[in-house]
Amino acid sequence: MDQERLLRELTEFLRIPSVSTLPAHNQDCRAAAEWVAAELRRLGGRDVEFLGSDTHPVVSGKGPDVPGAPTLLIYGHYDVQPPDPLNEWTRPPFEPTVRDGKIYARGSADDKGQVFCLLKAIAASPRPPVNFRFLIEGEEEYGSKVLFDLLKREPQRVRADVALVADMSYVAPGWPAVYTTLRGLCYAEITVRTSKTDLHSGEYGGAAPNAHEELCRLLTRLKGEDGKINIPGFYAPVKRPSKAELAAWKKLPFNEKDFLQNRVQAKALVGLKKYSVLERLWALPTFEIHGILGGFTGEGAKTVIPAEATAKVSMRLVPNQKLAAVERQLAAAVNRLAPKHATASVRFLHGADPAQIKVDHPAFKLLGQAFKEVTGRATVPARAGGSIPVVPALASGGASVILTGIGLPDDRLHAPNEKLDLKQLWDGMEVFRRFYELLGSQESGVRRPVHAP
Ligand code: BES
Ligand code: MN
Ligand code: MN
Repeated sequence: MDQERLLRELTEFLRIPSVSTLPAHNQDCRAAAEWVAAELRRLGGRDVEFLGSDTHPVVSGKGPDVPGAPTLLIYGHYDVQPPDPLNEWTRPPFEPTVRDGKIYARGSADDKGQVFCLLKAIAASPRPPVNFRFLIEGEEEYGSKVLFDLLKREPQRVRADVALVADMSYVAPGWPAVYTTLRGLCYAEITVRTSKTDLHSGEYGGAAPNAHEELCRLLTRLKGEDGKINIPGFYAPVKRPSKAELAAWKKLPFNEKDFLQNRVQAKALVGLKKYSVLERLWALPTFEIHGILGGFTGEGAKTVIPAEATAKVSMRLVPNQKLAAVERQLAAAVNRLAPKHATASVRFLHGADPAQIKVDHPAFKLLGQAFKEVTGRATVPARAGGSIPVVPALASGGASVILTGIGLPDDRLHAPNEKLDLKQLWDGMEVFRRFYELLGSQESGVRRPVHAP
């Protein structure tokens, strides 16, 4: 394979600042979609279309038909998270730079680099006998609304034997994984208003209510210092992992001290102390504050009592929790915990149900075998703390969804200096190339004509 040419092409893709949550980047999202469409056409794809949006379209396409062969749906996303804080990047986020065998750029691991890997693996071989279908979306980082609406109108778009999602990482260097759960998400803004307008803190301070203070109190009531979330009914559907699963996690190369020192890089870990760190990350719901707006945050000093304050928060949900129920629970809890002398409101921005995946379909064995042949180790089952909103919908047409990835745990997704190790990329291309070949082979056990076009 011509690695230099591939790197040039990946660089072109990563250069496009396709930040889906910021309207200023709408045209860039469109440009990234064009890049994906051109790539699908280069692969000999047919029916390459933009669906659902002019600026954040789902790019859909099909490979050549191979009658009787299994159908493999490839899912990924070309949008990325905002790159801020910019001053913490060693090199600008949209000027991809190779250093020490790693490519640094926003989207290098999440998810452009992995989409690139899945697609280039198709080009890398004699054409594999597989019916490829593609759904590459541009709004994953903002809740996947365009794709959800599309699948509501046209649910047949997910008809396939297997759906392959490479949007996560190995559990540790040298340890490729398939994921059995994803957490869901409930993202909201909580706004507290305490007076008609801002007030002079000298004239009124001591007697007037302060919106930031009331918001902070409300937030600390919603989640206590012990890490427990105080929303009635919130934990009721949460199930503990089985003894066998907890025992299996103990065998994974995960060390709490190493996680604290090298990944989190903080002074201590927090959360519900009676559960292991992996259980907190993978099997328990969370409540996080992402940012607080309002009042005076400019340079210098201004003596003001803010009338309004807003917190952006989200909750990660685990299997059996339902987004719709959690939205109701949060709204009720805010209503109950806010002081009577303030008005508190909740606005929901986006969300996702959690996903639970059985990994017993024959395709999982084939992927494990491909990883084993290329990297020396087969996949291990693990859980994921992150969310991919559309995964339950991908499974709704009967496809087995494989959640895997070629990144490493230290890729710094959503953070400054996101990177992808090039060795992971080259190995990954070989893994997926081999996986497609195995899937298409007569003995794969997946050669069912049920979803033939
Ligand atoms: N690729 C991630 C999801 C992920 C990250 C899964 C790490 C497993 C491990 C995805 O792009 C992502 O960031 N999703 C968002 C979804 C949200 C904005 C609806 C997330 O999890 O915050
Ligand atoms: Mn992603
Ligand atoms: Mn992401």
